[in-house]
Amino acid sequence: MTPTLILAPLRGLTDSTYRNVFSRFFPGFDSALAPFITTYQGKAIKSSRLKDILPENNENLSITPQILAKNPENFQKIATILADLGYETVNWNLGCPYPMVANKMRGSGLLPHPEKIAYFLDAIQKAPLALSIKTRIGRTHPEEIMKLMPIFNQFPLTELIIHPRTGIQMYKGDVDLETFHACLDLSRHPVVYNGDINSIGDYNRLSEKFPTVSGWMIGRGALVNPFLPGQIKQLSIDKNHRQTLALFHDTLFQCYQENLSGPGHILGRMKGVWFYLSHSFVDGKKLLKKIQKTTRINQYKDIVQSAFEHHDLLEEVTSH
Ligand SMILES: Cc1cc2nc3c(=O)[nH]c(=O)nc-3n(C[C@H](O)[C@H](O)[C@H](O)COP(=O)(O)O)c2cc1C
Repeated sequence: MTPTLILAPLRGLTDSTYRNVFSRFFPGFDSALAPFITTYQGKAIKSSRLKDILPENNENLSITPQILAKNPENFQKIATILADLGYETVNWNLGCPYPMVANKMRGSGLLPHPEKIAYFLDAIQKAPLALSIKTRIGRTHPEEIMKLMPIFNQFPLTELIIHPRTGIQMYKGDVDLETFHACLDLSRHPVVYNGDINSIGDYNRLSEKFPTVSGWMIGRGALVNPFLPGQIKQLSIDKNHRQTLALFHDTLFQCYQENLSGPGHILGRMKGVWFYLSHSFVDGKKLLKKIQKTTRINQYKDIVQSAFEHHDLLEEVTSH
């Protein structure tokens, strides 16, 4: 059976420009979850965030918007805007691990407070949209999710996306597959797995272990190797990987040059892209260092052009 693959949200990276260009060059993703939006000074959505989720800016790959909020009224305000834009489902972020967010009891900061989560879910029942949740397994302890599963089960959710790490783990350390397994068994909702799918081998191992998972969300693995979703689905992929990557890069770079102002901003974005993409190249660390040092657009272009002409890609990127 063909798996459902979803591009994970990475704020500052997988914006609408990235998602559109990515899906033009690389097949495999069925949809994407957009990086979170919040209310702007308690009022509306910041215009840059709104632009990211406007349906006309997301024609290549369908998205579900995501909200980061602890206050049901703020959530409702954004949900109403999203419903007016034609969205049918919204995702609630219960995973963000950054202390600036979590310390204010938002994202993963809410996970040790089941009563607050139950109150929130009850209060947003009247929201005009169906709800999906993306969660970690706790803020500090994986046991936290065990108190949350019965609560999630009480409410109608379209899906539960689980990244089986705690908030304090950030993005490091092992994913906790035992706790994920327990959640999968307990959930009455479809469960999407997310975390460290970096190769076909990872996907094969996980899909064999968890055959009842309803979908697979991939973030960093696809930013490193954009061919990965197509490889997992065994789609036919143009064998000239280096040329495809170069075209993808050049198109993305051109879009950012058109949409962003100033070399600092543009290079900042591209350095973010290379933070992941460089891992696809042999000697990628050296290449990344060179790119990170550049402050001039022309110098950046020379380094990148030379990389696409002379640096080899890792075998696991090109062997499928
Ligand atoms: C830079 C960065 C930004 C992220 N932004 C978001 C976000 O806006 N919303 C969210 O739910 N998760 C966010 N995440 C978490 C990812 O969606 C994903 O859960 C995590 O990277 C694990 O999956 P992966 O191993 O496939 O990358 C972010 C992760 C990173 C590294």
